[in-house]
Amino acid sequence: MIAAMRLADADVFDEVVLVDIDEGRAAGVALDLTHTAALGRFSTRISGVGTVEAAGPADYVIITAGKPRTPGMSRSDLISTNAAIVGDIARRVAVTSPRAVIVVVTNPLDEMTHHAWLSSGFPAERVVGMAGVLDTARFQALAALTGAARADKIQAWALGSHGEEMVIPLSQATAAGRPLNAVIPAAELDAIVDRARGSGAEVVGLLKSGSAFMAPGMSAARMVLAMNADSGEIMPAAVLADGTYGIRDVYVGLPARLGRAGVREIVQLDLQPGELAMLREAAERIRERLARLEAA
Ligand SMILES: NC(=O)c1ccc[n+]([C@@H]2O[C@H](COP(=O)([O-])OP(=O)(O)OC[C@H]3O[C@@H](n4cnc5c(N)ncnc54)[C@H](O)[C@@H]3O)[C@@H](O)[C@H]2O)c1
Repeated sequence: MIAAMRLADADVFDEVVLVDIDEGRAAGVALDLTHTAALGRFSTRISGVGTVEAAGPADYVIITAGKPRTPGMSRSDLISTNAAIVGDIARRVAVTSPRAVIVVVTNPLDEMTHHAWLSSGFPAERVVGMAGVLDTARFQALAALTGAARADKIQAWALGSHGEEMVIPLSQATAAGRPLNAVIPAAELDAIVDRARGSGAEVVGLLKSGSAFMAPGMSAARMVLAMNADSGEIMPAAVLADGTYGIRDVYVGLPARLGRAGVREIVQLDLQPGELAMLREAAERIRERLARLEAA
């Protein structure tokens, strides 16, 4: 819903289609969004349908279908339920939109993105996962609360997995161009990293039903807008590791240059040895969970 709103607001697409197995919900949200056209000053058409086939061909497909967490659940607890949903949708998207770029949002994010890639049969550059943009935004917002700088003047990368093995390399973090660890005391910075890692659960705990949607929706839309503009912007995204960082053949959060047709390249950052080790550890944990999913 929020991703659709941001994409429509941008006024760069002919049409945004919401697809939900609950067709009335998709159509209702689409109509509500259509009513914002004058307020948002856009001419993008918005519709809501019940199937991928009814949506027709698309340039970009954001997959958010699936179950969210309830309080106390980890993202990994969702794996087999959501794999069935995401796999089915990815296969159908591959038929209706064989040239699309897929952006996966459903959790557990890294595993679902890998699964969508396998199910779609698409080249890896056309299947990416949204997590790092959100996790980075959360870190930026929380770091800004210290007064170090405005959130948009904090530069950082959230890499690794979308979960326990999230890696925010502080060697790469700055506030208004100054190293963040020179601006915020180390203990406080570690607490901010921990809070960013747990932010999804913090929101789930407060909402009691459902999970975060505003920052996630904006993050997914931002990736699609960057690709559609062929911006070449580097964003943290779940991508199929290609040997950069010593990781290969598994989806994990890495900095990726995005272009119109998806991932142009994985970008190498100058990480400290400890940060690199954490990134490799994250990739191994994702690989293990994927192996368990495939064995189930
Ligand atoms: N990657 C991230 O950073 C991130 C952030 C927030 C949420 N999420 C994940 O996104 C997913 C969606 O979260 P939400 O809060 O929007 O949940 P939600 O329950 O509000 O919405 C999910 C929707 O999926 C629909 N659905 C279920 N099966 C379907 C199918 N087979 N085809 C089409 N639609 C189907 C449901 O009817 C429902 O409307 C969850 O897995 C959640 O964990 C990921």
